[in-house]
Amino acid sequence: MSTTELNLEALASAFEVFPSDTPASDDDRARELDAPRFGTVFTDHMVRISWSVDAGWHDRRVVKYGPLELDPASAVLHYAQEIFEGLKAYRHPDGSVWSFRPEANAARLQRSARRLALPELSTEDFLASLVALVSQDRQWVPERDGFSLYLRPFMYASEAFLGVRPSHSVEYLVIASPVGSYFADGVKPVSIWVAQDFHRAGNGGTGAAKCGGNYAASLQPQIEAYDKGCEQVAFLDAEQNTYLEELGGMNIFAVRADGTLETPKLTGTILEGITRSSILQLASDRGRKVVERRIALTELLDDIRSGDVVEVFACGTAAVITPIGSLKGDGFDVEIGGGEPGELTMALREELTGIQTGVVEDRHGWMTRLA
Ligand SMILES: Cc1ncc(COP(=O)(O)O)c(C=O)c1O
Repeated sequence: MSTTELNLEALASAFEVFPSDTPASDDDRARELDAPRFGTVFTDHMVRISWSVDAGWHDRRVVKYGPLELDPASAVLHYAQEIFEGLKAYRHPDGSVWSFRPEANAARLQRSARRLALPELSTEDFLASLVALVSQDRQWVPERDGFSLYLRPFMYASEAFLGVRPSHSVEYLVIASPVGSYFADGVKPVSIWVAQDFHRAGNGGTGAAKCGGNYAASLQPQIEAYDKGCEQVAFLDAEQNTYLEELGGMNIFAVRADGTLETPKLTGTILEGITRSSILQLASDRGRKVVERRIALTELLDDIRSGDVVEVFACGTAAVITPIGSLKGDGFDVEIGGGEPGELTMALREELTGIQTGVVEDRHGWMTRLA
């Protein structure tokens, strides 16, 4: 469904607002927006919708941000029946607030819900929940260049029952945290550790879903990457330990010397990034050939060494596009681009951030106004 067909304000009016009795002072908020402590400091409110087998989705509300009360037997604490999303609200030059392809996040949350046996939240409810929160907390959307308000919708099994079956009650929430520029001192290439003893996802597993368990499983390999002096970890396919899949929280692209862009194809074990799909579109708009295929690690390393691959980058909501400067693993350490971000990497980054912040034309109708 096109978001332009939806009257988001009308949908958001289904949310009852219970304003916080302790909102941040103007001074405190200004301090936080000047130097955001991402993931630590949250806005004054949060959205909640409850679900039960009998009543379906009900009690749409905007409430004061604060702790949840959880029964120790809540299913999520034992069986990890939980999913989430991540997207940003951007302040445009005229003061309005927009998000980038939120209907794609709604669709991905629905796919994740199906895989984790959670109830699907409609696209209308998802979009309205963002509008309801951002309208209430719009003063928390930073104005500074490169800054935004990160939105974290999530859903968890709240039933107090120690049985392995889908929960009969579920909570959906949205919280928001201001975020600064990912590369405050200019865009710098990162080093990647390719895990060969750990995998993120296997065939038939939950790799294509955005569920908390996937990230729990990525922590030990992430520690290994830090120990090896790398900033991020990349995973290979679990079946053959051969094909590059993705990073712990980003998809990956290679640019060939002939200008072609390549990215691992979606096999059911990779998270379908919204940044990834957008880059495929923007690159083909530029007349570039784009290829989604299985990419063997050894082939990629050979192509980098021979100069057939000239740029490698990672992409995701958090950092948009991150140049990769080296790939390391057991028995290899390969540099890409001599420590400098690639030309196409940076051009795509500028175009995408320009669309998101309202300074480059939104040819594809990707932006949705939230407030
Ligand atoms: C495992 C994983 N892959 C890829 C991505 C990139 O997805 P998106 O571009 O939608 O942020 C993310 C971030 O959400 C992720 O967690």
